[in-house]
Amino acid sequence: MKDRKIMDAASAALTPNYGRQPIALVKGKGAYVWDADGKKYLDFFAGLAVNNLGHCPSSVALAVKKQLLTLWHTSNIYYTEPQAMYGKALLKKLYPGRLFFCNSGTEANEAALKLARRASTDAHGPGRTDIIAFEGSFHGRTMGSLAMTGQKKYHEGFGQMLSGVTHVPFNDLAAVERAVTQKTCAIIVEPIQGEIGVRIGTKEFIQGLAKLCASRNIVLIFDEVQTGFGRTGRLFAWESYGVKPDIITMAKGIASGFPMGAMFAKEQIAKHLVPGTHAATFGGGPLACSAAMATLETLVKPGLLANVRKLGAYAIKQIKAMKKKSPMIKDVRGAGLMIGVELDNPCGQYVTELASRGLLVNCANEKTIRLLPPLNITQTEMNKALKLLGEVLGA
Ligand SMILES: Cc1ncc(COP(=O)(O)O)c(C=O)c1O
Repeated sequence: MKDRKIMDAASAALTPNYGRQPIALVKGKGAYVWDADGKKYLDFFAGLAVNNLGHCPSSVALAVKKQLLTLWHTSNIYYTEPQAMYGKALLKKLYPGRLFFCNSGTEANEAALKLARRASTDAHGPGRTDIIAFEGSFHGRTMGSLAMTGQKKYHEGFGQMLSGVTHVPFNDLAAVERAVTQKTCAIIVEPIQGEIGVRIGTKEFIQGLAKLCASRNIVLIFDEVQTGFGRTGRLFAWESYGVKPDIITMAKGIASGFPMGAMFAKEQIAKHLVPGTHAATFGGGPLACSAAMATLETLVKPGLLANVRKLGAYAIKQIKAMKKKSPMIKDVRGAGLMIGVELDNPCGQYVTELASRGLLVNCANEKTIRLLPPLNITQTEMNKALKLLGEVLGA
């Protein structure tokens, strides 16, 4: 089927909730994808920070294929080996605690919200259920995660949001201290806010939040849905801050594109999620866990995370040099291979132009182009992308 035919069929059949690029993808390998008309693209979007090992990584494909011929689904009222083994392996990369598996980032955040409320209610009695979240944040589209998301545009038209959620400015510890009350049960933060244009939480801010939460018995939740699984050059962003949050939510890169989410919680909090309090029919199924296990094993192989740090620093340096030549570039910021290039005008036209030249990127807000390549890209692929970016931005 040709590009146009696929797009027409989709437009006629599906809800119109996505602002899509006019591209229909049919094949992917490594850092490249192909559309239905045979055009090849270098993918610096990676399924929105999901295809961290590139497209169709063989280690993951083989693991899923093996599992596909063994056992697909059982329900969580039974134990399965892939889930048990993956849980054990992921915990080894974290610190003492427990995991709940689900299917997406928003589900992981819903689980965190429920667990924080439940743990606070059990420990302090009813009424301690308020949440502090941040302006510019993004936590997902279901009603709990949406309420915590600090961008009004996502709330519009959906009526009353969950009560008890306060949004305060990001990177402003004094504002958080003012917002805390006797009713505050949790603070949820993305260490790097992705969807508002790659805004980096400062060390002082994140460490200050941890101290505040510890002193006031508030649950600190890190939303690592986008920053997790190597994106920032460490397996998780918390490692760079020297902070061990009470709860961590994860999804996106966890299983290389196989749908999965996870919530980690320290033992004294996790214990409140007793039987019957929460569940997910598909959560942590054998196929997802086999994909996640192969992904984790590949991510921690020597050199991969070092490649993220090296090429990320290189890209930022090169784009900073472009900034000297192109007055349209206002700022470049990022960590590892999560990079925002802020322009002085809307970036949509440049994203379209880059796609026509064979590079896929997206706008992380009106004026910020975001680069999220696979974590195993090569120096040559990075150079190719930077050359195209420079050409389009007049640098
Ligand atoms: C930080 C963060 N949290 C949560 C989500 C929601 O994840 P999902 O789309 O898998 O529900 C996203 C998605 O972009 C995200 O970036």
